[in-house]
Amino acid sequence: MNKVSVCFVCLGNICRSPTAEAVMLRMVDEAGLNGRVVVDSAGTGNWHIGEAPDERAQRAGKQRGYDLAPLRARQIEQEDFAAFDLIVAMDDANVTALHQVAPAGERDKIRLLMEFAPNAEDRVVTDPYFGGAAGFESVLDQCEAACAGLLAALRPQLVD
Ligand code: 4NP
Repeated sequence: MNKVSVCFVCLGNICRSPTAEAVMLRMVDEAGLNGRVVVDSAGTGNWHIGEAPDERAQRAGKQRGYDLAPLRARQIEQEDFAAFDLIVAMDDANVTALHQVAPAGERDKIRLLMEFAPNAEDRVVTDPYFGGAAGFESVLDQCEAACAGLLAALRPQLVD
């Protein structure tokens, strides 16, 4: 049985990437692909290691039926590049930071999440941390659009 693994990455791993993780996990579940698409998230920074997602991200997610509460922040490590098939970043600063951590042969695993939402207006998922509640709604909208495209893009790799 083929498997594919994805690690979503943002700066703190408390707003955008745990939201993407929760959205993707539900889509994988609804598609009957549990265990075949492995999903995780991490931050490029170390400030929030061990913390639950930001309360605002938890609240906004809960309103759409996503449970972010059990997730805990961690920092991306060099070993993640061997462990995951794709490392999916939220913005250009994440990509730059990931390039500094990635072993030379693994850099082509780094992608931008919004690449998978070709009809979207934005090419990055903007950091909502210093803004208001609307930013967290935008993050959810972007994650829902892009994760649907990402799952569709992964499907050929899951064929037995
Ligand atoms: P995230 O948001 O990268 O989407 O988790 C942030 C979380 C924390 C900080 C910045 C962005 N911070 O500066 O602590």
